[in-house]
Amino acid sequence: MLLFAAVVVLAIVGFLALTFIAIDSLWSVLEMVSSYLMPYFLPAEVEPLTKKFGPWAAVTGSTDGIGKHYALELARRGFNVVLISRNPDKLRAVATEIEKLHSVKTKTIVADFSEGAQIYSHIEEELKDIPLGVLVNNVGLNYEYPMPVCEVSDARTWELINVNVGAVTAMSRLVLPGMVARGRGALVNVSSGSELQPLPLMTIYAATKAYVRSFTYALREEYGPQGVHVQHVAPLFVSTKINAFSRRLLDGGVLVPSADTYARHAVAALGRVSATTGYWLHGLQYFFIKIAPEWIRIKIGHRLNENFREEYMRNNKVKAT
Ligand SMILES: NC(=O)c1ccc[n+]([C@@H]2O[C@H](COP(=O)([O-])OP(=O)(O)OC[C@H]3O[C@@H](n4cnc5c(N)ncnc54)[C@H](OP(=O)(O)O)[C@@H]3O)[C@@H](O)[C@H]2O)c1
Repeated sequence: MLLFAAVVVLAIVGFLALTFIAIDSLWSVLEMVSSYLMPYFLPAEVEPLTKKFGPWAAVTGSTDGIGKHYALELARRGFNVVLISRNPDKLRAVATEIEKLHSVKTKTIVADFSEGAQIYSHIEEELKDIPLGVLVNNVGLNYEYPMPVCEVSDARTWELINVNVGAVTAMSRLVLPGMVARGRGALVNVSSGSELQPLPLMTIYAATKAYVRSFTYALREEYGPQGVHVQHVAPLFVSTKINAFSRRLLDGGVLVPSADTYARHAVAALGRVSATTGYWLHGLQYFFIKIAPEWIRIKIGHRLNENFREEYMRNNKVKAT
């Protein structure tokens, strides 16, 4: 009798466990399809983004790569743009390019996010009269080339933390109160496909992006109900100078779009979905990558980075340590 009861209890526990696993897997598939693939099949938006969120957008790390093209694309859609980056000459050049191409206003703020907490009072002061509708937390950096953690310099280690973790945190805290008070706004946090699992030889970089994912998903729960659209954007490879360690990545290709192509697709998903890779082929890649168990992805990621490291060493005649 006791044995029978134990078997029944175990059968019920087993049944419940399998049901939860099945629901969880199905939910993950539905979530991935709706978040990463659906934006490309949605009809064109009726309400312009500037109406939905407000006339001003700001982009961090906006003098090159994805950030520069986010700024250009937002300007093309009618936003006045605040460019926040570290190089005054490059900032002026991007602002001039935007104003020449699109009839919008620009403002530039010089800020080096690697300097940490001290820079934010200056940014806050510069932004105090601008009702920001959109903030794209794009600024980010990686290692010069893949390497084990103890090979990363002290300076680069803190830069990675201050820029990839510090900027998204401090900038979000800086703009959210205004968006909440106005009852509208969009916060776009740019993460990376490397958030998906630990990534050997880019260990710190991937860990900072796992932070961005966790931070963004939690923020959405906190501020979504107060009218702020909190969007998570996780690109895979895009042809920009962050990937300068690999000629193959810089050359680009179907799976590695230019920053221009990438930003056009990513902005098309703004206000529509709360999480996206920003580019439809990245959506497909993300979908298939996630199917593999994490331990396999860690091994494959490690191998991929070993290849990039070898490519870098070969091309730069650096001796492996
Ligand atoms: N490209 C990819 O394959 C890829 C993939 C996944 C995720 N991402 C993410 O996408 C974002 C943009 O990357 P990207 O590929 O466009 O990189 P990028 O081409 O190197 O551009 C980075 C931008 O950030 C600026 N920046 C860098 N460090 C800064 C600092 N300390 N203070 C202020 N500005 C700083 C750069 O300024 P300068 O012009 O002065 O250099 C540049 O404008 C990052 O968050 C990155 O992690 C990129």
